[in-house]
Amino acid sequence: MALDRVTLGSTGLQVAPLCLGTWRFGKETGGVLETDRGDAHDLLDAYAERGGNFVDTANGYGDGKSEEWIGDWLAGRDREEFVVASKVYWTQMSAVDENLSRKTIRAEIEGTLDRLGTDYLDLYYIHRWDDDTPIEVTLRALSDLVREGKVNYLGASTTASWKLTKALWTSDVEGLERFEVTQPLFHAAYYEDVREYLEVAGDQGLAVCPYSPLAGGFLTGKYERADEDDPQAVRAPDGSRGSFDEYFGDWYVSERGWRVLDAVRAVAEEVDATPAQVALRWLMDREAFTCVPIVGARTVDQLEENLAAADLSLSGDQRRRITEARYGEDGRRHGH
Ligand SMILES: NC(=O)c1ccc[n+]([C@@H]2O[C@H](COP(=O)([O-])OP(=O)(O)OC[C@H]3O[C@@H](n4cnc5c(N)ncnc54)[C@H](OP(=O)(O)O)[C@@H]3O)[C@@H](O)[C@H]2O)c1
Repeated sequence: MALDRVTLGSTGLQVAPLCLGTWRFGKETGGVLETDRGDAHDLLDAYAERGGNFVDTANGYGDGKSEEWIGDWLAGRDREEFVVASKVYWTQMSAVDENLSRKTIRAEIEGTLDRLGTDYLDLYYIHRWDDDTPIEVTLRALSDLVREGKVNYLGASTTASWKLTKALWTSDVEGLERFEVTQPLFHAAYYEDVREYLEVAGDQGLAVCPYSPLAGGFLTGKYERADEDDPQAVRAPDGSRGSFDEYFGDWYVSERGWRVLDAVRAVAEEVDATPAQVALRWLMDREAFTCVPIVGARTVDQLEENLAAADLSLSGDQRRRITEARYGEDGRRHGH
């Protein structure tokens, strides 16, 4: 079934219910090139053929190759059919390492537009919060990009909930553009940690685009526990992210994660779906805000599997069992 459309929060943008993430395009990890140009274009083709129209990248993904390869691909398509999001914080064009000063933002947007071969972005996120640049300076520089037509909407990737609130307050008080979309790390095993952040999103009408919605692949169920005493030790299939990325255990795996994965696996059996599809669907059904997970995939088969989450439905009880799997019998949350 072709992907339908959801309205992305208050932007009015009509996007597919799952966004395509392109972090691993052109990325080398431990000497492995994760997704080369041909595979990147195959993934983009498969996503578009299924009706996908929402692509997420960043200036630094693959040292600029992600934007460049998306740009090459878009050149043969109608740009207007796609909603393209990119990010700024780490730098490609500026002399400084990372920040959100006016100078950096103005240099980085030019590099991004050039690599993507477009004269505007639909959505421009701050990739991280910059503690050294007042948020008002950053918002003013970003608002100018909106006024100049280089960017249509602003977004904020992961940050503390009080900082997100402060940014929204600053926009309101100073008459500047607001962040309309947020991009936190958010998946079935990482929920409590962003609860307050999601409350801000719900209250303020922001759309939420969770990144690493499958915990880097952990929630697909393809990893097995390697050591009962060390929850972060995994038996990883050859060639999977967990087999070559030294941060995999730290970033994605916890005692809580194994409990949640058990619940996800059980629900998957009941609904005749895969754990990946169930974990994505659990994210998508939100009452308080629009939630459009950013799916990462290394192969077209993985992508097809993940996009089928759009056709799945879970009962309230199934959703609750996944949500509550994080708690022990004493009501406390399982930790690492
Ligand atoms: N704002 C930020 O700071 C930030 C940070 C991270 C990511 N992001 C965005 O979020 C996107 C998604 O992040 P992510 O790649 O970490 O997402 P993810 O969905 O949690 O993990 C994707 C990885 O899981 C594995 N996988 C996915 N589907 C699978 C399936 N059906 N069966 C088996 N394995 C499967 C693949 O890795 P292997 O095949 O290699 O195992 C794939 O690369 C990124 O591309 C990027 O656009 C943003």
